[in-house]
Amino acid sequence: MKAVIPCGGLGTRFLPITKSIPKELLPIVDVPVLSYIINESINSGVTEVLIVINPKKQIIKDYFSRDDELYEKLHKLGKADLIEQLNLFNNIDIRFIEQKSPLGLAHAVYLAKEFVGNEPFCLLLGDDLTISETPVTKQLIDLFYQTSSTIIGVQRCDNDDIVKYGVADVIDYNGKFSRIKGIIEKPPISKLPSRLACFGRYILKDIFRYIKNIGMANNGEYLLTDALGKQCLDSSVFAYEFEGSRYDMGDKLSSLKAAIELSLLRKDFGKELKKYIKELATRI
Ligand code: G1P
Repeated sequence: MKAVIPCGGLGTRFLPITKSIPKELLPIVDVPVLSYIINESINSGVTEVLIVINPKKQIIKDYFSRDDELYEKLHKLGKADLIEQLNLFNNIDIRFIEQKSPLGLAHAVYLAKEFVGNEPFCLLLGDDLTISETPVTKQLIDLFYQTSSTIIGVQRCDNDDIVKYGVADVIDYNGKFSRIKGIIEKPPISKLPSRLACFGRYILKDIFRYIKNIGMANNGEYLLTDALGKQCLDSSVFAYEFEGSRYDMGDKLSSLKAAIELSLLRKDFGKELKKYIKELATRI
């Protein structure tokens, strides 16, 4: 399956650093958030990725392009270990397309129409980072092969943060996956259709014809939620409660927590970090 990763947002919640560095390139120690998201797709069997960027984020393209000068330099110095680190994503085809106006997620997805053709595809939002034994996208793909239906990755959200997300309107609650009749985008707490929040992972099938038929929302954007709502009228759409941790990388505290969890998993200094955190905990 192919994957689409929209990276259009302005990152205003992460100012001031996002004045010059797109939030998708913010590092988790030495690796940008976007690399983790691409790795999730690779580990789920994806071989082609389209990254939708806004024109001010050309630096994202630079990160993924080959730096011949640096390569030559390291080669002359015999630094094979460092060269190894420059060989980013050799086994995957990464392409870019620009979203020239900030017209929303559905608009960003529609730009991928030519890239994906008529096939189902994975959508991974650049804001949402997941950590799990079986990659979240793989969990969704596995369910897609059982149902042949659009799948939306959700998790229970029992706190007030739920109002920041699309929330699934469930018809048949069936433990881990449920058929839905729509998604309510950012509902007030008094009008929650469920406690299942959409956390940025989707397998989309036949979505373009629904996107084509939606209007602009009050906020001036085309919402993917509206297209999915239309699809629910015609065919089964499922919300799947995926396993794993999920972090909002547009939020400062959440991104720090993700950095800690991922760093604890690192082979080079994970153990040292754990020791340090335990020692620090005795002092605070
Ligand atoms: C978008 C979607 C929303 C989803 C969220 C996940 O919202 O519209 O349904 O829950 O991503 O991160 P945004 O974060 O762009 O406001």
